[in-house]
Amino acid sequence: MAETVLELKDLSTHFFTDSGEIPAVDKVNLQIHKGEVVGVVGESGCGKSVTSLSIMRLIPSPPGKIVGGEINFKGEDLTKASEKRMKKIRGKEISMIFQEPMTSLNPLFTIGNQMSEAFRLHQKISKKEALQRSIDMLKQVGIPRAESIVHEYPHQLSGGMRQRVMIAMAMSGDPEILIADEPTTALDVTIQAQILDLMRKLNKEKNTAILLITHDLGVVAEICDRVVVMYSGQVVEEGSTREILKDPKHPYTQGLIKSLPKLREKQQRLYSIPGTVPKPKLGRVGCRFAKRCEFAFDRCFQADPELISLGNNRKSRCFLYEEKESGVESDVNSTIRS
Ligand SMILES: Nc1ncnc2c1ncn2[C@@H]1O[C@H](COP(=O)(O)OP(=O)(O)OP(=O)(O)O)[C@@H](O)[C@H]1O
Ligand code: SF4
Ligand SMILES: [Mg+2]
Repeated sequence: MAETVLELKDLSTHFFTDSGEIPAVDKVNLQIHKGEVVGVVGESGCGKSVTSLSIMRLIPSPPGKIVGGEINFKGEDLTKASEKRMKKIRGKEISMIFQEPMTSLNPLFTIGNQMSEAFRLHQKISKKEALQRSIDMLKQVGIPRAESIVHEYPHQLSGGMRQRVMIAMAMSGDPEILIADEPTTALDVTIQAQILDLMRKLNKEKNTAILLITHDLGVVAEICDRVVVMYSGQVVEEGSTREILKDPKHPYTQGLIKSLPKLREKQQRLYSIPGTVPKPKLGRVGCRFAKRCEFAFDRCFQADPELISLGNNRKSRCFLYEEKESGVESDVNSTIRS
């Protein structure tokens, strides 16, 4: 397997609010290898953005704080890195495309101005050279009439164009890792497919590792090598995209897959998992999915399931399974699921 470029070890990020301490990210473990595309999926509020913002050390503080764990980036623990060091890493070694492009593009400056600044932050080049590189980068991400777009303001661009600009800016430092938080959610399906193609191209050509955050398993199927499923601040399942889509182990992942529209089947109504994700809470006992799980039994309400290895590089956090070192799968309840 390729070299690990990023490893989260028991990463915990909590918010300290008037209504108490919220463990939004609770002992999350995750690895990304060189050139790998890893998808993080889960419903709204399960901790996807807080995980990615923690990696970038951009959690608003207060009320947020990384309270435990490690973020190992090529042997360096970023939880301990100084702000000066993080400024060097952000954009250059780890880049991020934020969930809301309009909030990360400054409405008061032209596209060329903002892109040039990103270039000049990490490289000693003239303004003229930086503007030319911005134009080249915009062309690389498929923006037509790049020469004039650099003189335009964000509001003059369509949503798809803005997202391309964000990708161009994120790629300008030639990062080792690109974190893309819901990069296609606000776009129509055609533009969505183009943006995914673009990310796949960058991944193949530059071997950039991508952490793709999405609630859309269709997007994951398109582009990801591996998937990490999050639920209420925790990782509940992990495995190769192929395995997870073909044979999901955790009842939550099974529900997510069941909710996907199927093209060839006539469906009266689309399935949706009953209930909603519980807000993370300290001191909660039992499986966090228990209230929504059709297989829940007594133990699920009395103890916390651990994330266990099922062999075959798969993991699941569910009492229906028993740990296996490697090889044979340990599904003790395949009969229940079928
Ligand atoms: N600034 C904040 N103050 C308090 N709680 C917060 C703050 N930001 C996030 N949270 C909490 O952290 C949890 C995880 O939020 P997060 O934004 O990571 O969800 P998400 O998985 O990215 O959801 P979405 O799909 O809607 O983007 C939520 O319960 C949320 O309420
Ligand atoms: S531990 Fe229990 S409640 Fe949780 S997912 Fe497994 S069967 Fe369902
Ligand atoms: Mg989010």
